[in-house]
Amino acid sequence: MYSGPVPKYVVKVSNPLEIGGSVWARYAEGTRGRDPMKFLGSALKLTDGQKGSGRLAIDLGCGAGNETLALLERGWWVHAVDGEPRVIEILDSRVSPGKSSRLTTEVAKFHEADLPEADLVFASLSIPFAGDNHDQSVGKALSAVKNGGWFVGVFFGQNDSWASEPDIAMTDRIQIASLFTDFDPIHIDEEEFDGPSGIGEKHWHWYVVSARRPI
Ligand SMILES: C[S@@+](CC[C@H](N)C(=O)[O-])C[C@H]1O[C@@H](n2cnc3c(N)ncnc32)[C@H](O)[C@@H]1O
Repeated sequence: MYSGPVPKYVVKVSNPLEIGGSVWARYAEGTRGRDPMKFLGSALKLTDGQKGSGRLAIDLGCGAGNETLALLERGWWVHAVDGEPRVIEILDSRVSPGKSSRLTTEVAKFHEADLPEADLVFASLSIPFAGDNHDQSVGKALSAVKNGGWFVGVFFGQNDSWASEPDIAMTDRIQIASLFTDFDPIHIDEEEFDGPSGIGEKHWHWYVVSARRPI
């Protein structure tokens, strides 16, 4: 049974899985101020990231920016990307003036984003929502990882309750391995549990992938 932090938010929408519109703005409003997702802890451990020391992280699908703010707090520069403009406004409103010079933001779909080379590309619960552009979005994310840098991100598996949703991409270990051929090592942590989401209880099935581009 999964015991880590789970999203604690309520998004009231008629079709909660609609992509686009303002559902993600509501998600961001509902999650602003929560603790960073546990995946960020893994990323910080792998990159010795408690001290960002001027390195650059990309927060892909940054939402309210809880993880972006935690990275800025630790001295990272951050390029935060999200397809929903309101989400970026929310993030901008939360950054203290002393840290804003280390933040750049981009409103873009993942597969069209103009990403700088980064020491860490972090994608928490975001890339699966690229739907048909999933693999292209992964390719874009991975091409931004500099030599010696890390990707840490979450992908959804076939047993997830949302597997039948046409706009949400599911994957498996074989497909993940095929996307990360240039990376070594690759760690894939698979988790399944019943837990809350913005639309109530669901079955979560995800792969947390941590991978390094060799130097
Ligand atoms: C579930 S939220 C995750 C937010 C945050 N990373 C977290 O872990 O709480 C997904 C975010 O990805 C963004 N998003 C979804 N599909 C996208 C796409 N194809 N291109 C760009 N952003 C997208 C949404 O606007 C939303 O802010």
